[in-house]
Amino acid sequence: MFLKNLFTLWHFAIFIAILINQSLGSEDLIKRDVSLDRNNVPKNILVTSMVGRSRIQRNYTAQSIYYRSIPQVIFENDYIGLDSKSSEVNKAFLEDGYEKLLAKVRKISVQSYVPFYNIYTKVAEEINADLFFCDILMNYPCFDLAWKLGKPAVGIDCGFSLIKPPPSYMSDPIHGCHANMENESFYNRFRCEILVPLKLTWKVRSTIKGLNAQRAIVDVEPHDNMFGRTSNTLMLSNSFYGFEIPHANSPLYQEIGPVLPDTFPSLTPTLESFLTNHPRTIYFALGTIVFISPQNVITLLKSFLELINQDVIDGVIWSTVRTDTSDSLQLANSSAQISSILNNNHPHIHVSKYSPQYAILSHENTRVFLSHGGASSSHESMYTATPMLVLPIMGDQPSNAEKLELAGMALRISKWDLNVNDIVSKVKRLLNEESFKKNAERLQFLAKVNSKRKYRAADLIEIVLNTVKYEGVEDENGRFKINNENLLRDWITPDLRMGFIRGKYLDVYAVAIILFLVLCGVFGYALWKIARYTYIRFSENRISQKHLKRKGE
Ligand SMILES: *[C@@H]1O[C@H](CO)[C@@H](O)[C@H](O)[C@H]1NC(C)=O
Ligand SMILES: *[C@@H]1O[C@H](CO)[C@@H](O)[C@H](O)[C@H]1NC(C)=O
Ligand SMILES: *[C@@H]1O[C@H](CO)[C@@H](O)[C@H](O)[C@H]1NC(C)=O
Repeated sequence: MFLKNLFTLWHFAIFIAILINQSLGSEDLIKRDVSLDRNNVPKNILVTSMVGRSRIQRNYTAQSIYYRSIPQVIFENDYIGLDSKSSEVNKAFLEDGYEKLLAKVRKISVQSYVPFYNIYTKVAEEINADLFFCDILMNYPCFDLAWKLGKPAVGIDCGFSLIKPPPSYMSDPIHGCHANMENESFYNRFRCEILVPLKLTWKVRSTIKGLNAQRAIVDVEPHDNMFGRTSNTLMLSNSFYGFEIPHANSPLYQEIGPVLPDTFPSLTPTLESFLTNHPRTIYFALGTIVFISPQNVITLLKSFLELINQDVIDGVIWSTVRTDTSDSLQLANSSAQISSILNNNHPHIHVSKYSPQYAILSHENTRVFLSHGGASSSHESMYTATPMLVLPIMGDQPSNAEKLELAGMALRISKWDLNVNDIVSKVKRLLNEESFKKNAERLQFLAKVNSKRKYRAADLIEIVLNTVKYEGVEDENGRFKINNENLLRDWITPDLRMGFIRGKYLDVYAVAIILFLVLCGVFGYALWKIARYTYIRFSENRISQKHLKRKGE
């Protein structure tokens, strides 16, 4: 049936093609002009990110080799202090609860405001920045500077839905809720929709106050939105449906992910031969920022030994990155096996500080990725169809972990409750149940198709720059100044200008409800009147009939 339909459709298409061809004559065709007029369009873009080595410049594996052609200014954020072991953030990775870390992140964003504002100002002047491309996490100075200089800003969100309020059914495990609230109880939905945001608003009061004090220092007007000066700016989201929970977006918020480089470092000969000789390998890496406690390292290593012992897997590749193996060595209590792993003497467990992650994940013998679930790692895992065991630490990771599990390609473990049996049984499931690999392959297709959208992102940025040419006021140097509030008026949904009540049509619905109630009232009243009238008539009738009867006797 289907085939027949397809056939008919095909013939129909040919028929139309012939018709068109006849009416035009194939010699008369002209090519569509696809060239763009780029004359006088501003071109200098300043890309900034406050946190994250792998977010914009991937310093590890090999000094930003992916984006070598782009001039870079790299500096350590002293307030984050990733390089100092005793820094507050580093301690927070190991602490209980996500709340403390969030509080620290808020404190850091206030402390680093002025230093970063000054750095951005200097660089923007040097390169004559025409557009600010801001990684949104903590990056208040980027949006503020763009606003102050009258330059457009475009934000990029690396998996964190920080900018616009998400629909009610989306929440976040870092607030004790879930990424998807679909099947939650009334109590949980009430808590996550009403109580959590109220608590959060209360908590960020001091952050906003602190930020405004910092803004005053560099002569930027205060702003009361906890997300910064981001209203009416284009926000790009480095994610995709299939992984992300489905929801409707404003035109100002566009999905363009997964953003992946086109080339990656290849396997070293050692890794190549290790993988060839270990057909069931687990790759273990926690990205470039987070790490786990030495106790948890020991638990994971014991699990690896147990998995190899039970012949579930036969090899492990571990990129330690920021995890300090010497701390774990002290905890090993001269256990020969654990020590041999930590000294990289174990024949089936390969340990190194950095490794070419994408190349390892691409290898067919890498069966499971034990990861923290950061956005980049998750994207690479989906792109290579590698099932994951996720050990989230902070930020968007707990939410990513839930999404990956919902998508059916991953299982989660918790840093507060790591135990060998749980890990062993989950790895067994990941390897033995076919659904994990199948779902990973389903997501792989989505990731591959959607990875082309980075070119769409570049187009969107170019559209913003081109709009500046028409909306901007030109100064004596031929440079444009714009107002970020209405630069993108073609993309701003009218409800934002209509105000809360009109924008949500609350006035219309209120009147509709009142009318409905009034009508119900009138109808009810009339019904009551009729009923009463009938009742009285009826009883009167009966009484008079009784009278008549009595008279008759
Ligand atoms: C990043 O790479 C540069 C260039 O090799 C190096 O000088 C710098 O120390 C690295 N930064 C970090 C934070 O690792
Ligand atoms: C909620 O339950 C429905 C029906 O059992 C299921 O199809 C759906 O995937 C569940 N959603 C989540 C987020 O667990
Ligand atoms: C070493 O001893 C500590 C404290 O008794 C314990 O917590 C840890 O698990 C031991 N390490 C190993 C590898 O058995």
